Amino acid sequence: MERKELLYTGKAKKMYATDQENVLWAEYLNQATALNGVKKDTIEGKGRLNNQITGRIFEYLAEKGIASHYIQELSETEQSVKRVNMFPLEVVVRNVSAGSFAKRFGMEEGIDLPFPVLEFYYKDDALNDPFINDAHVQVLGAATDEEVAEIKKQALKINAALIEMFKAIGIRLIDFKIEFGKTAEGEIILADEISPDTCRLWDIETNEHLDKDIYRRDLGDLIPVYVEVLDRLNKM
Ligand code: C5P
Repeated sequence: MERKELLYTGKAKKMYATDQENVLWAEYLNQATALNGVKKDTIEGKGRLNNQITGRIFEYLAEKGIASHYIQELSETEQSVKRVNMFPLEVVVRNVSAGSFAKRFGMEEGIDLPFPVLEFYYKDDALNDPFINDAHVQVLGAATDEEVAEIKKQALKINAALIEMFKAIGIRLIDFKIEFGKTAEGEIILADEISPDTCRLWDIETNEHLDKDIYRRDLGDLIPVYVEVLDRLNKM
């Protein structure tokens, strides 16, 4: 397969076309951002780790019957994916209070929620990705009623699979963000990435952060922590 023109440069990835119409080429970058791009740094090795961690997780989900855009790893920092039309939505699933949820509701972090809480954010950098409800999703034309129902169903299924997977490697899945797209055939599938950039992962024994909060909160070096997550996934 041949890499063709650059289609899009995101905060953490570049997407290229390929010589196959429905296949794209994703390159994971060494860039870290927080606070919607206000905090920005280059962290050597991060692209490689997130590419490999996302690959392992998407492979695990495929084994559990959950489809994603992931096709295969192309190099340490690159993977091929199915071309999809992305919904302009960030879907957040929360199992434990943390981050913006804890802040918004004046709650301590680390409290188990009675059931997984699903949230939608509208992907728009200029608007700072606002928190929106189901009606807003439809009014904004981001997804139809049926699409919202399908996205919610898949998000909860993905949550259940990820809780089990992380538990097996001594990690508590606090919350995470996923994105969905529609294939040329009209199938709604999981897209983008699942990595310590997009999940809150706490060590089951120590509650130590194994995710991007290390960077967001200036808690130390992110690389050894991401290496730890990849090592545990590889031993699974
Ligand atoms: O900041 P907040 O608590 O809303 O984040 C919830 C989850 O979504 C966290 O796991 C965080 O890593 C992820 N997230 C993300 N990209 C964003 C916002 C949140 O991956 N733009």
